[in-house]
Amino acid sequence: MTEDWQSGGFGLYLHWPFCQSKCPYCDFNSHVAAHIDQNRWKSAYLAEIARVGAETQGRVLTSVFFGGGTPSLMDPDLVAAILEKVHKTWTLANDVEITMEANPGSVEAGRFSGYRDAGVNRISIGMQALRDEDLRRLGRMHSVAEGKAAYAIARATFDRVSFDLIYARQDQTPNAWRAELTEALAMNPTHLSLYQLTIEDGTVFGARHSLGQLKGLPDEDISSDMYLMTQDMCEAAGLPAYEVSNHAKSGQESRHNLIYWRMGDYVGLGPGAHGRLTLNRQRWATEAPKQPGAWLQMVEAGLAGEAPRIASTRDDHTMEYLLMSLRLAEGSDMARFRAISGYDLPEAKLRDLETSGLVRRDGGQLITSAEGRLLLNAILRDLLV
Ligand SMILES: C[S@@+](CC[C@H](N)C(=O)[O-])C[C@H]1O[C@@H](n2cnc3c(N)ncnc32)[C@H](O)[C@@H]1O
Ligand code: SF4
Repeated sequence: MTEDWQSGGFGLYLHWPFCQSKCPYCDFNSHVAAHIDQNRWKSAYLAEIARVGAETQGRVLTSVFFGGGTPSLMDPDLVAAILEKVHKTWTLANDVEITMEANPGSVEAGRFSGYRDAGVNRISIGMQALRDEDLRRLGRMHSVAEGKAAYAIARATFDRVSFDLIYARQDQTPNAWRAELTEALAMNPTHLSLYQLTIEDGTVFGARHSLGQLKGLPDEDISSDMYLMTQDMCEAAGLPAYEVSNHAKSGQESRHNLIYWRMGDYVGLGPGAHGRLTLNRQRWATEAPKQPGAWLQMVEAGLAGEAPRIASTRDDHTMEYLLMSLRLAEGSDMARFRAISGYDLPEAKLRDLETSGLVRRDGGQLITSAEGRLLLNAILRDLLV
């Protein structure tokens, strides 16, 4: 009998928690360290792969993702050792996707061929902006020219290259974003991640914002207009949104992220990494200690297997499925929803949302419109009473 996670596939996420500097907007688990002993990290990752490999024998891996932090600061040898261990541990799908996030510094770009030789076949570049002044305000260490140079090297090295941009930045008007996105699309990407700037608590931007010192942020109406414009422009350029912030040419969607949104299983290794694993028909949520030093010590002491795991209840599973699947342009499979939750979504509520143009039904799928994807939380509140 198939299990629910098999509709989404099986992936491995590895978190590299270090960066050259900390960007003021970023609340990812990233740290600046003077010295990193990559051999020590290698032993820890290999031990972790062996540990979770033993629990997930016989599975076929559809994706590996090196995220961060700045994983393009990893030595290519370290990446090669990890991927060698991965090959020995699981069967890999024929079309396995192996992605690495990369920052556009020239140091990292020079390593791209080493990563390719290690087995990486997809790169996701943190371009963030195509305006030097804005890169500076975002605290980035690279210029637009360096970003474009990294993109050119990546294109010459890998078949699949994506880049990230952040919009709704300080003093950015819709027209300015239109011009910038036009330039980005002219670079002929096959995949783009386009994020609205989020002000996160606990970041430098968060602190400045609460003191009223982060000036010129577009208000909610303008940000929404920018979002809708982004959808239209990408669609017209042949890169429709397949998820709230992700756009791709047909077939170029990130298989790794699709595992999350289609609620597959994924192993999360490294400091602060999250995982979801179905073992003996029970779905578990895992989260590793965030501090790099604490994580290393735990693994080195052989204690990682004793870290607490949280059993997902049926309600957790139901909520998570709807939350994830409604982010996707393919929408939520109502039969799968029923199988997970044991009930159907309230018909009257669905009809109201359809009348408001926030969702539509297509065969057995419930699909959010672009406007609906802006109001996901409200839709979920409405549907899951
Ligand atoms: C895990 S981050 C790291 C990627 C890589 N270290 C870099 O910075 O280029 C992935 C992406 O999240 C986006 N991001 C991070 N913080 C954000 C924020 N506060 N608002 C919007 N996007 C954000 C950025 O586009 C970034 O490239
Ligand atoms: S945005 Fe990227 S480079 Fe900047 S601190 Fe976050 S993870 Fe590091």
